[in-house]
Parts: sequence; structure tokens; C-alpha cells
Amino acid sequence: MRIFLGVTGASGALYGARSLTALTAGGHHVGLCISDAGARVISHEILGEGPRPASYADVRERFVHRFAEGPGAVDLLDHDDIACSFASGSSGARAALIAPCSTSTLGRIAHGTGDNLIHRVAEVMLKERGDLVLIPRETPLSLIQLRNMVAVTEAGGVILPASPGLYAGPETIDDLVDFVVGKALDVLRIDHVLFTRWGEPRIATGEDAP
Ligand SMILES: Cc1cc2nc3c(=O)[nH]c(=O)nc-3n(C[C@H](O)[C@H](O)[C@H](O)COP(=O)(O)O)c2cc1C
Repeated sequence: MRIFLGVTGASGALYGARSLTALTAGGHHVGLCISDAGARVISHEILGEGPRPASYADVRERFVHRFAEGPGAVDLLDHDDIACSFASGSSGARAALIAPCSTSTLGRIAHGTGDNLIHRVAEVMLKERGDLVLIPRETPLSLIQLRNMVAVTEAGGVILPASPGLYAGPETIDDLVDFVVGKALDVLRIDHVLFTRWGEPRIATGEDAP
């Protein structure tokens, strides 16, 4: 399926990274857009090169190279490219995930005052009654941010906080991130094996092997 993945400048770039890996490994065609602030956070949190990269384009390309897997495909979209197919309801794409979602992008979506491709795709999903999932990461939350979450929910979006359950026995940061990404894919009705479901035997990983 065709799905849009927006990566914005909230902490938690790994949520975007693991989403990209899960979607492409699952054979999906991902329209990926990384905001400038998203590229800053990737540079800082994933590349370990601080929040002032010399080139946003370079950060974006390295992110795709590191986290996209076959057999899916990735279109790396410019955040100003509001002429791309995902920016139009007529494109037929009906699923978008913003992971992580900054409170700034949340506010833009809640108020319909977008000025980049990520905002526009979210707007399209809401007007077309498609699936829109936002993974915000901020704490504590102001009343404004809470009200913006309510507004997006009332408009048909799903707010899925970066709030991993601990009952599945996470051992690594990837386990925590995968729980949240898996819940987002559940909402989007996309198959995955990112976490063990309650009541099912634990998924064996390579590290479990004797
Ligand atoms: C290292 C770093 C971490 C940040 N963490 C958060 C965060 O957790 N949540 C948030 O809402 N904004 C966070 N911000 C601020 C956003 O990046 C900022 O509001 C930006 O304008 C968001 O733009 P965007 O929504 O277009 O990506 C962070 C910024 C930096 C540089």
C-alpha cells in the first residue's frame, strides 16, 4: 500500500526510523518527508552529530539509506513539495503516520494552518476521511497542546502518544520504540511483528538463539 510517513522535530527520531524500516520491510511504498527540524533531531539523536547539520539533504539521504529495507520503496519528498501526489486527495493514498510529531506540527494540523508537505498531507487525510496517526512526544503537556490533540481527534485523527507499555518486558530502547510503532501500525491496519501480543508466546529474535 502507499503510505505517507512524516518525521518532524520532536525528540524520538527513532520512532520515524523504526516506522520506515517496518513499512518498507513489509513491502509498502512510503512517501517520506522529513522536516528541517526533523533532520536536526536525526542528526543529533541518531547520527550523533549534533542538532546543527551542515546539510539537511545529507541527513535525509543517510536516514533513508540506513533504515529503508526491501521489498518496499521510498520516495524521499521535499518538505516544500506540495505539488507531489501525496499532497492531493485525488492521489488515492489514504494513510499517513507522523512519527515523531512535534507539538508545532500538531498545532498546525489542529488549526488547519499548514505551510509544508507534512501539514498538507495531514489535512488531506482528515478531509478525505483517511487514516491519520500522530505520535507526539512532549512532556508535560500544556492546555494548548492538549486542546490541539482533542481538535485532531475530533476531526478524525488518532493521537498515539510515545508511551510504550512495559508489560511486554522490553529489554532495549528498540523494544520500547517498536511497541509504539507497532501500535501505530495496528491503528493503520498494517501487519507487523514489532511486539508480542498479550497472551501470545514471546517472539524469538536472533539474540534469543542459543
Ligand atoms: C534536539 C531537539 C529536540 C526537540 N524535542 C522536541 C520534542 O520532544 N517535542 C516537541 O514538540 N518539539 C521538540 N523540539 C522542537 C521542535 O523541533 C520545534 O518546535 C520545531 O519548530 C518543529 O518543527 P517541525 O514540526 O516542522 O518539525 C526539539 C528540537 C530539538 C532541536
